[in-house]
Amino acid sequence: MIPFADTHVHLLAGLDDGPPTSDVALAMCRMLVTEGARHATALAHQNHSYPANTADHLRSAAAALAATLSEKKIPLSVYPTGEIMLSANTLAEWRSGTLLSVGDHKQWLLVEMPHSGLINVLPLVEALKPEGVGCIIAHAERYPELLDDLALTQKWIEAGCLIQVTARALAEPWEPGFELALKRWAKGGFIHLMGSDGHGIDRRRPVLAGGFGRLAKWVGRSHAEQIAGVWGAAVLQGKSVNVPPPRPAGRNWFTRLFGS
Ligand SMILES: [Fe+2]
Repeated sequence: MIPFADTHVHLLAGLDDGPPTSDVALAMCRMLVTEGARHATALAHQNHSYPANTADHLRSAAAALAATLSEKKIPLSVYPTGEIMLSANTLAEWRSGTLLSVGDHKQWLLVEMPHSGLINVLPLVEALKPEGVGCIIAHAERYPELLDDLALTQKWIEAGCLIQVTARALAEPWEPGFELALKRWAKGGFIHLMGSDGHGIDRRRPVLAGGFGRLAKWVGRSHAEQIAGVWGAAVLQGKSVNVPPPRPAGRNWFTRLFGS
């Protein structure tokens, strides 16, 4: 079994709606190790609700967490990361150095949609491409306009996006149509990364194993390990990651009738 990489977990105490204290953050890290993770983002929100969360602030908080993990011999490597809410200013903020890339490697930005809903990420992706920076769509399953539109998802992937899905959504999809759509994404190669989107130990716990189990059932263990471990570790460590292009299923008589 390869170790999991949690590409989306809030571990920076007191900086956002994640763990309120260092003790909770450490408990989350221990939970992640129990889940089978050895790599995780030390992540906090970067949006207008948290103006103090500059790249430098997140870097120093992540370094302090890494030092504590080492001191306490908790075998989890953490990588400073911002969860960036897209806005009209994202490109300017990135160029000014306010935003933090995944692992601070200047390879990937972890982006979420504004509260108003899905917006077209392609202009930002095209603007970042010459700098060698791509976008990871955080908790992409939250956006039905994307989840239910394979052509649009494919277009974003072809433009250089990676698709991240929340482990708990895979493990416990909340309605059958949602489960079918996730399964279609998984089997078609539209999912590249898994994250817990963990925020604490009482609610939104950092769980991964259930999501991996569901993925393995749908796409086989080897492909599930790529998603839950190999590609995530590469992204967090600043290594290159080459994902295969999606393979949307053909619309045969069964899929036309039953939509799966
Ligand atoms: Fe998040």
